[in-house]
Amino acid sequence: MSVAIITGASKGLGEALARALAARGWDLVLDARDPVPLAEAAGLVSAHGTRVTALPGDVTDAAHRAELVAAAWRLGGVDLVVHNASALGAEPLVRLEELPLEGLRRALEVNVVAALGLVQEALPLLRSAPAGAVLVVSSDAAAEAYPTWGGYGASKAALDQLAAVLAVEEPGLRVWAVDPGDMATDLYAAAVPDDDGPRPEPARVVPAFLRLLDERPASGRYGAPALLEERR
Ligand SMILES: NC(=O)c1ccc[n+]([C@@H]2O[C@H](COP(=O)([O-])OP(=O)(O)OC[C@H]3O[C@@H](n4cnc5c(N)ncnc54)[C@H](OP(=O)(O)O)[C@@H]3O)[C@@H](O)[C@H]2O)c1
Repeated sequence: MSVAIITGASKGLGEALARALAARGWDLVLDARDPVPLAEAAGLVSAHGTRVTALPGDVTDAAHRAELVAAAWRLGGVDLVVHNASALGAEPLVRLEELPLEGLRRALEVNVVAALGLVQEALPLLRSAPAGAVLVVSSDAAAEAYPTWGGYGASKAALDQLAAVLAVEEPGLRVWAVDPGDMATDLYAAAVPDDDGPRPEPARVVPAFLRLLDERPASGRYGAPALLEERR
């Protein structure tokens, strides 16, 4: 049985991906800071009959990251790490001239530093997995210059580069950075509260992630819309 660690899995994309992987028989270790929605999400995910360990905590906490990996080890190892938890740096987003530097530090800490910390912790188990993979959730804002998305976008660009270098340093693993495209989630609503335009639910984007796991293309940066489009 395969085991995945998914950060930020109490709602949004992380929860949708957890449900889809559980439906495919994956055992899961899930986290989020707020224990109540995390427990609710874990209850729904475990309805698929696989083993689900939910550990509330903040990905920026090294002891919590160690707990996540230890829990996966107890389930049999680590086949996949999904770094999905994310911080915006300011809610709502603001122009760079107003961005609190503490907000930028927080975005870098959650989106980049914690991602590397979790990967470092999991690397021995990932390397010994038959098909180890790391998937980091990126953003269009990492590559395009949208007003107000500068701090968050800079952190996601750093995350992309981290993933790219990890891929060449660890040729035995797959390392994918995935831009999921806009989704109707709390994160988007917090970023741009006045923008209530139509956006896909996260579950609509999950098949792009499953495609990567099924086809295991080369390590690199992928856009979910293109992965979904090509599959039609
Ligand atoms: N929504 C979009 O349009 C969009 C577009 C491009 C990229 N993305 C990316 O997609 C990913 C998922 O976002 P989403 O839209 O699904 O967000 P979401 O619905 O707000 O869910 C975020 C999840 O992460 C958890 N989380 C946040 N900070 C955390 C921390 N420090 N430690 C542990 N867990 C934490 C949240 O729970 P707690 O608050 O309880 O911790 C929640 O479970 C993110 O990487 C985001 O940057 C989203």
